[in-house]
Amino acid sequence: MTTPVIIDCDPGHDDAIALLLAVASSELDVLAVSTVAGNTTLDKTTRNALTVLELAGRAEIPVAIGAAGPLERELVIAEYVHGESGLDGPVLDEPTTNPVDAPASEFLASIIHASPDPVTLIPTGPLTNIAQLLLDHPDTKENIASITFMGGAAEIGNVTPNAEFNIYVDPEAAEVVSSSGLPLTMIGLEVTHQALFGEREAEALRGRGRAATFVAELLDFFVANHPRTYAAPGAPVHDVVAVAQVIDPALVTTERCGLRIDTSEGLGRGRTVVDRWHVTDWEPQVDVGFGLRRKAFSDLLIERLEMLP
Ligand code: RIB
Ligand code: CA
Repeated sequence: MTTPVIIDCDPGHDDAIALLLAVASSELDVLAVSTVAGNTTLDKTTRNALTVLELAGRAEIPVAIGAAGPLERELVIAEYVHGESGLDGPVLDEPTTNPVDAPASEFLASIIHASPDPVTLIPTGPLTNIAQLLLDHPDTKENIASITFMGGAAEIGNVTPNAEFNIYVDPEAAEVVSSSGLPLTMIGLEVTHQALFGEREAEALRGRGRAATFVAELLDFFVANHPRTYAAPGAPVHDVVAVAQVIDPALVTTERCGLRIDTSEGLGRGRTVVDRWHVTDWEPQVDVGFGLRRKAFSDLLIERLEMLP
């Protein structure tokens, strides 16, 4: 049985690779893609999503334009990581397809209502679009199976010591999602920092098809430009882990924890407060990722990317 999914993204190098993994995997039925501002501005994340789907030969998947900024705050982008285009590295063709006319909130609601099976949402950027969907169309919850989001960190952040980028950009949206009552899986930095892709993986992909070569060229830039150093060479392909976990939940070990979002200003902004040791009376409502079967993850990603044109 295939899992119907919607991917909400801000491509972004790792978002782009996550999209390619999703459309290359028969376990998933990608009903729609929506775009949000985050890694770069909305016009660029939308162009990039269209370009990536065309590259994969999947231009029939509808793309809906979402939010140009957070629910309440000023937009923060990450061009220092993803470059001016949001996908610096490869030569990018301008898309020949267009997004749908309807705004993401309305369009995603129509897709969810029309699905015969409950839909899994996979947000890989700031959670603004998902929050807006739940606020505008609360009845969609009846046909949402779960939300598996890339975001947050049980311990150390990446945009501040306290916060991971997606949550930092729109803490209020993350608060709407975390308190939605829906089944939630948090793919945070503890697990995505184990998903390091670098030169070795780029060389395995280069020349293995148009899409695989595109990913190799994305990795060339992403690794060289990544501002962090990790336990091993390479850069974390954060968003890909969220898609991989929906394809094969056994890839990620999770623990059910209580989660709260710090929506204050200052040092705590955007912190995902994960009660891993159950020291509060919070109802544990989120499956938080902590472990990754790295080789199985890497093998899956490379195998699927090589299946694309
Ligand atoms: O912190 C990592 C997240 O921020 C990823 O989704 C990456 O694409 C950026 O959006
Ligand atoms: Ca992202």
